[in-house]
Amino acid sequence: MLDNRLSACAEMVSGKGTAVDVGTDHGYLPCYLVSEGKAPKAVAADINTAPLDRAVKNIEKYGLSGKVKAVLSDGLKEIDSGNVTDVIIAGMGGELIAKIISEGKDFYSAGFILQPMTKAEHLRKWLFENGFEIERESAAKDEFYYTVILAKYTGNNTPYSDFMLYAGKMRNNTEIERGWLLKQAEKLSKRGNGLAKSGDTDEARRYLSISDEITNYAKQGERTGV
Ligand SMILES: C[S@@+](CC[C@H](N)C(=O)[O-])C[C@H]1O[C@@H](n2cnc3c(N)ncnc32)[C@H](O)[C@@H]1O
Repeated sequence: MLDNRLSACAEMVSGKGTAVDVGTDHGYLPCYLVSEGKAPKAVAADINTAPLDRAVKNIEKYGLSGKVKAVLSDGLKEIDSGNVTDVIIAGMGGELIAKIISEGKDFYSAGFILQPMTKAEHLRKWLFENGFEIERESAAKDEFYYTVILAKYTGNNTPYSDFMLYAGKMRNNTEIERGWLLKQAEKLSKRGNGLAKSGDTDEARRYLSISDEITNYAKQGERTGV
């Protein structure tokens, strides 16, 4: 039912209470969580009716209508926060994910499982500056590499470095983690080289230095062969 990206999201769900999937589209994730016993109940939420209809069809197809509720909602606005222990926001840009979290304060006791498609560094910065801790991060690979972030609200801001913005809490233990790290490093070095060509040498140096730091970290894992 799930690809590697959504499986990596499912793997971070605590399953202690209701799981809310914001921007569910097809509803595969909440259906999987409940049918596999990884969450007792789930909410499949989407801002648009066409994706929500797709989710409703799948909820009915898998006979999960009593346990997975479909809700039309902009972010978490229309969701009841009672007994919610996990909020998943996957397949959206980092800026939109940060906005949805900022508008969902009633849910701050839950774990936030976040899978940004773009601007992950913006999302991490927002988390660090708004009282969230990144507890862990994992990598998945389908056609592309993806990161999944598990964030918890502590109320304390986290001082961060450039490395933390671009590599987050990714480990360097597996081939997929190292592959994700090296892909990040490649993107940053391309950006740095582009900036160097346009004459912005300070910013170019910054990106090239983050790229080197991430490459070295990825290769360290390779050498220790964990
Ligand atoms: C690319 S799909 C991702 C689907 C699924 N989460 C996944 O990762 O495979 C993005 C979904 O987010 C929904 N969406 C966009 N903005 C939203 C918002 N503010 N609140 C809830 N859903 C939103 C869209 O309608 C769309 O169904």
